[in-house]
Amino acid sequence: MEILGIDIGGTGIKGAVVNTKTGETITERIRLLTPKPATPEAVADVVKGLVEKTGFNGPVACGFPARITQGIVKTAANIDKSWIDVPVEKLFSEKLGREVPVVNDADAAGLCELKFGAAKDFKGQILFLTIGTGIGSALFSNGVMYQGSELGHLKFKGDIAEHYCSALVREQEELKWKVWGKRLAEYLNYVNFLFCPDLFIIGGGVSAKFEKYREQLPKDLNIVPAKCLNHAGIIGAAAYGAIRLGEES
Ligand code: BGC
Repeated sequence: MEILGIDIGGTGIKGAVVNTKTGETITERIRLLTPKPATPEAVADVVKGLVEKTGFNGPVACGFPARITQGIVKTAANIDKSWIDVPVEKLFSEKLGREVPVVNDADAAGLCELKFGAAKDFKGQILFLTIGTGIGSALFSNGVMYQGSELGHLKFKGDIAEHYCSALVREQEELKWKVWGKRLAEYLNYVNFLFCPDLFIIGGGVSAKFEKYREQLPKDLNIVPAKCLNHAGIIGAAAYGAIRLGEES
């Protein structure tokens, strides 16, 4: 199936048409700036503009950086607060004149790793973390996703985990990779205590720098970097769309 996968982020909105059987993008990736302020109506307009730019008339699915429950936005940690309680699937579906499944961005990227990346053919419990401005999480048990986890918001070190070891925190506090890696290790040990996955996958921009902090990570945990890198959100959103539209499992 061919689906236009769209990854909505704090600075950019990216999309490409994906072959959901192979996980390959079959058109150039288009990137538009996220509007400021990123209100629901303004974001929906940019999404529409992106779809029009591709000239694609088929199905569309989106990844979105918040918890989505029954098509409704429930959190707004790193997005405009006006998104809370917005029925995002309805908004986008009406704007685009077709049914648009919307999934949490980390769940989307995790699904990409499960189907086409670091966890392809892996059997067991998987915890995927995407580490960027915030920390997003996705949980899988033997190929089935437990949707909507928010493990970046676990209470940790007197605050929440994403305020301690996100990529943004590393940049803002100008932490050396080794120092940041130790923070990440503390967090991974805690998450392991709670969920004990067979495999951890580290996604987001820091996955490409894995060698810089690998030595600091707990040796007794099975931790690998993500493989899908930049396109994970787009491909994962499309893969989710194929499941929701009843074309794939
Ligand atoms: C949000 C998550 C999101 C993650 C990555 C967190 O702050 O709460 O829903 O997946 O950032 O964008």
